[in-house]
Amino acid sequence: MSSPPSDERHRVTLRCETGPRWLTNALANLDEVLIDHAHCEKKAAANALSLLQAYPDVPGLPAHMARLAREESGHLARVLQLLERRGLALGRDPGDPYAQALRALVRTPAAQRQLDRFLIAAIIEARSCERLALLARGLPDAELRRFYGELARSEDGHQKLFLRLASRMHGPETWPRLEQLLDVEAELIRRLPIRAAIH
Ligand SMILES: [Fe+2]
Ligand SMILES: [Fe+2]
Repeated sequence: MSSPPSDERHRVTLRCETGPRWLTNALANLDEVLIDHAHCEKKAAANALSLLQAYPDVPGLPAHMARLAREESGHLARVLQLLERRGLALGRDPGDPYAQALRALVRTPAAQRQLDRFLIAAIIEARSCERLALLARGLPDAELRRFYGELARSEDGHQKLFLRLASRMHGPETWPRLEQLLDVEAELIRRLPIRAAIH
């Protein structure tokens, strides 16, 4: 099993690229995508605080998660502003079948549970990064393109953070589990219907 030589190399490499139909559909239903995106940022902020609550003893984690929750809340506030400008209401979260399917893979024993939570967070951040970058290239509006480019870079930093936490705490066990989860994630991307949503 391969193991990256240094923390700096840590990065999730997705195994299934998002196809062009996702972007076409997203651009045709941008309002729905923006609403879903707001819910994603809300859940990312909530997940950071939930990890802080669950793992206060992991070195560095409380500070990282506090910063992450602040950053994700900042993204949420900016997406909510976009919604307001477009006269859109947030509404209730209809749920995200992709993230739910990944979270269902979290194992029960404490150490495995922690590794899985870090890795699944890293994978969701990596997929979000890929799709926000597609929006950054494909949107007709220059301001929105810049906004999504900035957010894509930020989510890229988050996937690296989660992968670093995973490997620091779980060492070589990290890599085979990451491989397994990446295979499942690729299968989900192929199998789930395309939605007007980030995932
Ligand atoms: Fe975010
Ligand atoms: Fe993020």
